[in-house]
Amino acid sequence: MKRLEYRGYDSSGIALLENGKLNIYKKKGKVTDLESELKEKKLPATIGIGHTRWATHGEPNDVNAHPHYSNNRRLSIIHNGIIENYAAIKQNLIGKGHQFLSDTDTEVLIHFIEDVQKETGASLEAAVRLALKEVVGAYAIVVMSVDHPGQLIAARKGSPLVIGVGENEYFLASDATPIVEYTKDVVYLDDYEVAVISEGKLSIQHLESTTETIPYIQKLEMELETIEKGGYDHFMIKEIFEQPRSIADSMRGRLRADDAHLQLGGLNDYLDKLAQSDRVVIVGCGTSWHAGLVAEYLFEELARINVEVEYASEFRYRNPVIKENDIVIAISQSGETADTLAAIELAKSKGATIFGVCNVVGSSIARATHAGAYTHAGPEIGVASTKAFTAQVTVLTLMAIALAKRKGTISEETYRQLLIELETIPAKVEKVFENAAKIKEIAFIFTYARNFIYLGRGFNFPVALEGALKLKEISYIHAEGYPAAEMKHGPIALIDEDMPVVFLATKDSSYEKIVSNIQEVKARKGRVIAIVTEGDTLIPGMVDFVIEVPDTHEILTPLVSVIPLQLLSYYIAVMRGRNVDQPRNLAKSVTVE
Ligand code: AGP
Repeated sequence: MKRLEYRGYDSSGIALLENGKLNIYKKKGKVTDLESELKEKKLPATIGIGHTRWATHGEPNDVNAHPHYSNNRRLSIIHNGIIENYAAIKQNLIGKGHQFLSDTDTEVLIHFIEDVQKETGASLEAAVRLALKEVVGAYAIVVMSVDHPGQLIAARKGSPLVIGVGENEYFLASDATPIVEYTKDVVYLDDYEVAVISEGKLSIQHLESTTETIPYIQKLEMELETIEKGGYDHFMIKEIFEQPRSIADSMRGRLRADDAHLQLGGLNDYLDKLAQSDRVVIVGCGTSWHAGLVAEYLFEELARINVEVEYASEFRYRNPVIKENDIVIAISQSGETADTLAAIELAKSKGATIFGVCNVVGSSIARATHAGAYTHAGPEIGVASTKAFTAQVTVLTLMAIALAKRKGTISEETYRQLLIELETIPAKVEKVFENAAKIKEIAFIFTYARNFIYLGRGFNFPVALEGALKLKEISYIHAEGYPAAEMKHGPIALIDEDMPVVFLATKDSSYEKIVSNIQEVKARKGRVIAIVTEGDTLIPGMVDFVIEVPDTHEILTPLVSVIPLQLLSYYIAVMRGRNVDQPRNLAKSVTVE
């Protein structure tokens, strides 16, 4: 459960079958809080279920923590997702005398399963299937019964569930991170599938039929050490420093500059279609949406194709105009974000071709798209996305260059130069780390700032948004990202000596304009931290703090200019005593709407 805690950490609990009794132990807080409460207990169980929660229905407290009992306390359940029609079901069950202890939809679901079994006389597995056909919403569940001590029943729709196949033992989890140390053989459950593990046997069926499907066992590529902290204080700082390698990994096997080789396996079959389409729609959330904004500049600049970047959550409810020859690129680190998954399904239903850019192999989004490219950043455990962002931007850059080459919108020379420069990026990111101590000093000065503004133009505008999000989500300081030119249309009223302003001011086509924007802020006593191209002799004399990054091609700037912002937010959050890897209210993968 500790390995899954990055997905949600409001409360945790376990249900164990002990000497013919079904016992639930659960508590608000972290898994370690539950662990310390149980350490004196002897827990002889060999089968159980456990859950670490990101609250949807019902505040984080002991009662709302999972697992939950059925009314007769003979069943228990853990659940990841949202049952949208739980209120009506609950009312009906209350009318039948059911008594509920919590405010959760999950408790309603297990009471409902119990009621279906009672009303129909069906087996527990059949009752689970019947009940799931009635619920609306998303679920990944595991059900356990005191009357079937050797059995676990699992099912999923819209939320991930993977089964580890060990030596006469099975492990079920939302992702593979807690499984990899026990077995690398896994089965990814699909939507509407039900898995029953009973007396050491695994059977999988579709919700609507009882014909067994042969479990498709895949080998995990993940290595255990990639999900350990490896001596770092936090996963986030480990993942920040992993970026030279993760960016290189996202290019490995795809890019060889010396013979101008660029090959994206998943893209090849669709490159012509992409070249003929007149529009690319990009959907994503949070940091992935920021990567999409970078891609907009990349695709329009290089491939001269119209790009629209959409918040997946808005796109899915807006009834967008989608045409058959539209290409939709869905970007997601986890590959499980509910809004992005829903946006994909909507676009697919309207005939668009969907291309996924995901970091988790076998994830729902990776399996829902027509084609895709994995970012190969390795498991990202820190809730604040860092290496996944730069890996996403790297893959999107490769895609834009490949498309531009195919369309002939860039010269052979530009094509070769971009590939050569891309290969230097890992070393240039490494070079930014030489500023870590200086960035830490700047962080110390601004530890107790109450607001921040991040400003950038062109390719650095999405980076400004990303830098603001990083600071917000781990330090809880309010921060906004803006196009630098937009300041004069209102936000500049915010500037005074208490407002720190981070400028992305690298040498590019809008450099002179950024210099003017810096002067506008300084004229109003704003305190300026400028990210500049190393060797800049103009801006350092104008601002309060300077962080240098290596020079690179304008379109590759985000890959280096975001690094100081990741470090700045990390150091400020640590100095504020925040839980950097598991910030309050957040979860690594938002698999609910
Ligand atoms: C980024 O630091 C956040 N953790 C969050 O915005 C995240 O990018 C967003 O939830 C999308 O997640 P995904 O990439 O896994 O779809």
